[in-house]
Parts: sequence; C-alpha cells; structure tokens
Amino acid sequence: MRLLLIGPPGSGKGTQATFIAERYGVDHISSGDLLRRHVASGSAIGRAAAACIDRGDLVPDALVMDILRKPVEAASRRGGYILDGFPRTVAQAEAAYRVAEPLGASVRIALHLSVSREELTRRLLHRGTQTGRTDDTAEVIAHRLDVFAASTAPLLDYYAARETVISVDGEQPVEDVTRAIADELDRARRRLGIALPPQRDADDPRSAPASDAAPSAAR
Ligand code: AP5
Ligand code: MG
Repeated sequence: MRLLLIGPPGSGKGTQATFIAERYGVDHISSGDLLRRHVASGSAIGRAAAACIDRGDLVPDALVMDILRKPVEAASRRGGYILDGFPRTVAQAEAAYRVAEPLGASVRIALHLSVSREELTRRLLHRGTQTGRTDDTAEVIAHRLDVFAASTAPLLDYYAARETVISVDGEQPVEDVTRAIADELDRARRRLGIALPPQRDADDPRSAPASDAAPSAAR
C-alpha cells in the first residue's frame, strides 16, 4: 500500500505515520526527518538544506528527490510506504509519479490531516520549548504555515482528481485521530481491494523504518 500524508506543520503527520506504518506493515519515510539527519551529519545535502529549513522555506525539489529515491524504491519492493511530508508541491508530485510508475507500485491514497492554525501554532510553540527544533519559533512557524497554504494545500485538489483522498479531523486527541484514520483506511482499502501485507518480523533488520536509515545521498 502506498500512502501520502498531507498536513500542515504540527498536524500530527509524524505522530500518526508511526501508527499507520506499524498497522499496515509499510515503511514510514519522512522527508523532514531525512533532511534533518543530513543536516546533523554535515553532508553536502545537509549543508545546502539547513538554511531553508531554518527559515521555514521548502528545500529545492532536486535535493528532496535525491534523498527520497532510494528509500522509496526499497519500500516499494517490500510492503509499501507512508510518505510523511512529501510531496509538498505539484512539481514534486509529478516527479514522484515518474519514480513510482516503473516500480509497478500499487494504489495510492492521500491522507489529509486538517487542524486549525491556532492549534498548530500552539502545538509547535510547545514542542519548540521541549525539543529545540530550530524551526519551531513563532516567526518560522507562521512562515511554515503560510508556505503550506500557498504551495502544499493545492495538492489536495491535484490528488482529488487522480487518487483517493481521505480527510481526517486532526484536531482531536491523538488516539481519536489514530482511530479515525484506521477506520477510514480500512474502508478505503476494502473499496480499492488492497490486501493487508503480512506483519513484519521485529527482528528482521529489513523491517526498520526507512526514516531511520542512514542518509542515502551522503554515500
Ligand atoms: P517536516 O519535518 O516535514 O515538518 P512539518 O511539515 O513542518 O511538520 P512537523 O514535523 O513540524 O509536524 P508533524 O505534522 O509531523 O506533526 P507531529 O506529529 O510532529 O519539514 C521540516 C522542513 O523540512 C520544511 O519546513 C522544509 O524546509 C523541509 N522539507 C521537508 N520535506 C520537504 C519537501 N518534501 N520538500 C521541500 N522541503 C521539505 O506533531 C507536532 C506536535 O504536536 C508534537 O509535539 C506532537 O506531540 C503534537 N501532537 C501531534 N498530534 C497531536 C494531537 N492530536 N493533539 C495534540 N498534540 C498533538
Ligand atoms: Mg513531522
């Protein structure tokens, strides 16, 4: 199964992707996590991406495609994937089709988490005090939310014309969002005839989430 998780900053993409990956036996691939690993490792990609991330701007499409290609190809050969934070522009969505189609990848579902701007700001300001993520400051949060509205939200119409789009209220407590997603995905999966993959063996190293993998482009 291939899932795209589309939601504004702080909507719970990372939180919910972890549950979904486990339930459906797919890899959780977070473009933001992969980019932050590159920044931390000081790779060429990390050095090129750091300033964009700190400003809350999108990293250039070519860099993002570069780091995602290998994890997406590897996940496609296995149970599939949930992409968290990618695509973020129509240009990225079109590039993603060009990568996925030769792999004979299965049906795609776009899962949209909707949360009010006030709640998103509250969550991210709070996280900023806990984790020190460099882009969780009031000014950068506001810019990230504007970038989402201008560049990423149009993807919802783009996918509505091509794939199954599921929208879930992400403003509920975490467990309620998880339950709503599971219900919606099970319904969509049955409607689209997508079988559940076998559960992965926790001891199998190939079962490690792709977002935990070493930065591919640093090699
Ligand atoms: P990315 O890492 O993708 O960040 P983001 O989209 O800004 O989203 P976050 O990770 O902040 O939030 P989330 O939706 O994952 O929510 P979370 O579960 O953490 O991207 C960062 C940057 O990398 C971008 O700005 C850009 O520069 C670059 N980038 C990444 N992908 C790119 C791409 N494809 N193209 C170009 N550039 C790219 O939850 C947030 C907080 O809320 C947590 O504290 C959590 O505990 C809490 N929370 C979650 N759910 C709930 C709930 N239901 N109720 C209460 N609290 C909740
Ligand atoms: Mg995230």
